This record gives sequence, structure tokens and C-alpha cells, in this order.
Amino acid sequence: MSLLELLQGTENHILPERYNHLSDREMEQRITALKAAFGERLFIPGHHYQKDEVIQFADASGDSLQLAQISAANKKAEYIVFCGVHFMAETADILTEDYQKVILPDMRAGCSMADMANITQTERGWTVMQEAFGDTILPLTYVNSTAAIKSFVGKHGGATVTSSNAKKMLEWAFTQKERILFLPDQHLGRNTAYDLGIPLDEMAVWNPIAEKFEFDGDDFDKVKVILWKGHCSVHENFTVTNIEEVRNTKPETNIIVHPECSREVVAKSDYAGSTNYIIKTLEAAEPGTSWAVGTEMNLVNRLTKIHSDKDVFSLNSMMCPCLTMNRIDLAHLLWSLESIEEGRMSNQIIVDPEDSKWAVLALNRMLERA
Ligand code: 13P
Ligand code: SF4
Repeated sequence: MSLLELLQGTENHILPERYNHLSDREMEQRITALKAAFGERLFIPGHHYQKDEVIQFADASGDSLQLAQISAANKKAEYIVFCGVHFMAETADILTEDYQKVILPDMRAGCSMADMANITQTERGWTVMQEAFGDTILPLTYVNSTAAIKSFVGKHGGATVTSSNAKKMLEWAFTQKERILFLPDQHLGRNTAYDLGIPLDEMAVWNPIAEKFEFDGDDFDKVKVILWKGHCSVHENFTVTNIEEVRNTKPETNIIVHPECSREVVAKSDYAGSTNYIIKTLEAAEPGTSWAVGTEMNLVNRLTKIHSDKDVFSLNSMMCPCLTMNRIDLAHLLWSLESIEEGRMSNQIIVDPEDSKWAVLALNRMLERA
């Protein structure tokens, strides 16, 4: 690709200036009209971490597992405008048919965790792991990873997982091989393996930057889980100090966190589980109860509003929303829909066919068991 093409391509990904002068009301009216005009040709999935201004237009909202299932089941929509982050749109592209086009309203809506494992690092690390443990390792990847990593995992007999089914998928993985490589979130991997009864000294961390294992147990041969050294920059901001503050100031409060939080935070909380688990637990909670929630802020704010009969607040009072999720807003959603209407496809997500071929195996191994 020439430099000019590259620059033009980048320009195509930037919101045109005219959208900055529209009021929210104008944008909402236009989106409503466009949605009505497209009818079933258009489908808008929205992750629970999206802003309310976007979620109001979602045809379905859900966690990563639900959105993957919903995308795979939809055979009608010609255009899937994915309100979430890049890896979710890639997953939708992999799971949908060739005549369906997946669009991400803002190409900058990435995921810092997914960026912590690239395919070169993974292949290099895998070689060292094979030298250390032989052919005893099955790779699993959190869906929060690039299509290339999902493809690597699919090629090596492994599967994807989400926070809703990680336990089930780890159990399955141990029926296939003696050891697991878990990418790219060390915390979800560690918390899930620990729940399955694997002691911490049977887990090693793979540092992809230093290209070496981090292990402080006694017997390296006993390692059952290799955790990729990645994390979520949002969920890592919940700390044991936050928990102690809540315990000291509001001892009646229940503390519930997402398993992307560190082991120490999960261990000191009352409940831990996926986004969907957190939503369901709060739905089932008695009026008048108090809940400190350790997950993304757009969702916590929504839960606070929905459950006005309960005291629901963020475990970390200084918490911000996930900045990349937040890149999708009314203006970008409207721009996507108008681009489709004008016959210009901005921000289409197209996964490399070779990656897609292998990644779909990893995704289907999960969806069959989810
Ligand atoms: P889930 O939707 O699987 O709970 O994942 C949370 C998340 O961080 C999505 O990016
Ligand atoms: Fe990625 Fe964390 Fe944001 Fe989810 S919340 S998209 S894992 S950075």
C-alpha cells in the first residue's frame, strides 16, 4: 500500500468535522429514522460497557459471550454495526456469513488487554514453552484477543473462552492436555484455575516482553497453567485498599467484582463473576441491600440507575469508564449508518480469511460448550 493510500485510508477512519456540530437530539432523530429505514437489513449489537446514549439504539445488548452467540445466530442483517471494541467486531465477522458486513463505528475502539498479546510474541513464546514442557500444552484464549491469536489457538486444538464460561472451558481443556496456556489475561486465568482447585504454585507467568517464565514455586515440572502476562487496564484499578475502605465505612455492603480483577481483590470480595453474573446477582438482590461493584463504570452507573431501590456504587470511587469502549458515541454511530446509506463503507472489519478459517474452530469449540 502506498503512503498516499495509507493516509487516505486513515482519513476514512476519522469522524468528519460536520458531526461535531450536531446536537444530541438531531443525531438521535437521524439514527432513529435510519434504523427504521434499514429495518432488518441492519443489526446493532451493544456491549454492556457501552454508554447509555449508544445502548438506547442497540437491538441486543449483552456480554461478550451473548454478543458472539447473537451475531452467529443472525442470518438476516446485511450490516452489523458493532457497538463494542475491535476484537468483538472481529469475532462477529468470523461468525457471520460472507454477505454480512461488520462495521465498527470508531476504529480506535480497541482493547488494551487484546493488544498485550501479538502473534509474533505468541509464536516465539510457544517455541520456548514446547522446549520446556513438550507437547503437553493446550492454548486457550480469552475472546479479548486478536483474530490472529484466536487463529493460533484454533490451529493448536484450543478454544476461546469468555468470563462466563472460563471454568467450563478450563475443565474441558484439561481433558485434552496436561497443561494450559491461558492468553492474554493473567487474572482471569489465575482466578479461574484457582477456582478449579489448582494451587498458585502450579501456575507460572509467561512474560512476553522479557521472553521468560516468572515462577516462584518449588517445582517447575508441576506447572499446570501458564498465564500470559496481560491484564485489563480498567479492572486492574480495583485494589485491596478499595475493599478495606468499603469494609471499614459500610460493613453491610456486599462486594462483587469481575474476574479480570487481581487474585487478591477477588479473594477479598464476597462475589466474583462475569458481567452477566454481576447483572443477574444485582437483579436478584433484596431491596435495601448495599453493593460495591468492581467493573466498568458505564455499567456500574447503569446498574445504579436501574436499581434505585438498592445502594449500588463503584468499588473504586475514582473509577473511569473503559476509554476505548467510550470511543463509540452518537456521532460515530450516526456516521456509520449514514456511510452505509450513502453506499460508502467506513470502518468495515474484515478478518484475514486464513485467520478466520482457524479462529472459527476456536470459537466453535467454545460455542458448542457454552
Ligand atoms: P465480559 O463481557 O465477558 O464480561 O467481558 C468484560 C470485558 O472486559 C469486555 O471487554
Ligand atoms: Fe479491554 Fe478492559 Fe476495556 Fe474490556 S474493559 S475492552 S478488557 S480494556
